[in-house]
Amino acid sequence: MGRRLESHSVSFAYVPESPVLADVDVGVTGGEVMGVIGPNGSGKSTLLRLLCGFLRPARGAVLLDGQPLSAIRSRERARILAFLPQTVTPAFALTAFEVVLLGRYPRLGPLGAPAGRDREIALRCMRETETDGLRYRDFGTLSGGERQRVLLASILAQEPDLLLLDEPTAALDINHQAGIFALLRGLARNGYGVVVVTHDLNVAGQFCDRLVLMSARARIVAQGTPRQVLTRDLLTEAYESPIVVTEHPITGTPLVWPEPASAGGAKP
Ligand SMILES: Nc1ncnc2c1ncn2[C@@H]1O[C@H](COP(=O)(O)OP(=O)(O)O)[C@@H](O)[C@H]1O
Ligand SMILES: [Mg+2]
Repeated sequence: MGRRLESHSVSFAYVPESPVLADVDVGVTGGEVMGVIGPNGSGKSTLLRLLCGFLRPARGAVLLDGQPLSAIRSRERARILAFLPQTVTPAFALTAFEVVLLGRYPRLGPLGAPAGRDREIALRCMRETETDGLRYRDFGTLSGGERQRVLLASILAQEPDLLLLDEPTAALDINHQAGIFALLRGLARNGYGVVVVTHDLNVAGQFCDRLVLMSARARIVAQGTPRQVLTRDLLTEAYESPIVVTEHPITGTPLVWPEPASAGGAKP
């Protein structure tokens, strides 16, 4: 049975005078990849933190299979939901393999020590993310892209049903980015539900089943299939700058560009 994670009229503000999200309804079901897109500061990371229970909504609720997330114990939640934050810095020196093994934490037995099976799962997840060659490397010495893939292996080792990933491909080259998204698609085919924040609208259009487009005005501009969401009008509204949409020559999925006259014109 596929899991379902959804927000019901969720509102949130870090400081009362500037709401980040107002009355947001989104949901993801096992088997699908949902992309979250929108300009910097539009609340994408905040939405993910609310969906995984790190933040509590000021109003509304987040439900996991119909139950309020706040009513589920954190260890139980960690077996179902995995969250990869935008930036992760381990507090002490660990090898890549140890970082992946840490993902097993919510799954460990009563003694809390990883067993042979935990190591096997950790290694399998490293193979899936093509990081097994980095196994003995000090995590701190890895490149940004290598770290991202090791962190992805770590949350896969958690064996969750739902993955919430905040810009998991931000530091990746074009091949590794496509590789990670292909991996996410494969996970969805096997029943995982995936929510992924990305700035790459073209990759989002190619790999996601559904997209949520956020704007800096505390609201969701649109949600639906890539074709429904990646339109000139909706993107221009969300990014507050003219956007052109064409079509991918091979896949036929939408391709998005800033309108040439305004390219590079975004305010810092
Ligand atoms: N811990 C925080 N305290 C106060 N304001 C925050 C905090 N985190 C984010 N914000 C603000 O909330 C808004 C949304 O941020 P965020 O969710 O990180 O956006 P995005 O991920 O889309 O770039 C921004 O205006 C940001 O400055
Ligand atoms: Mg963010």
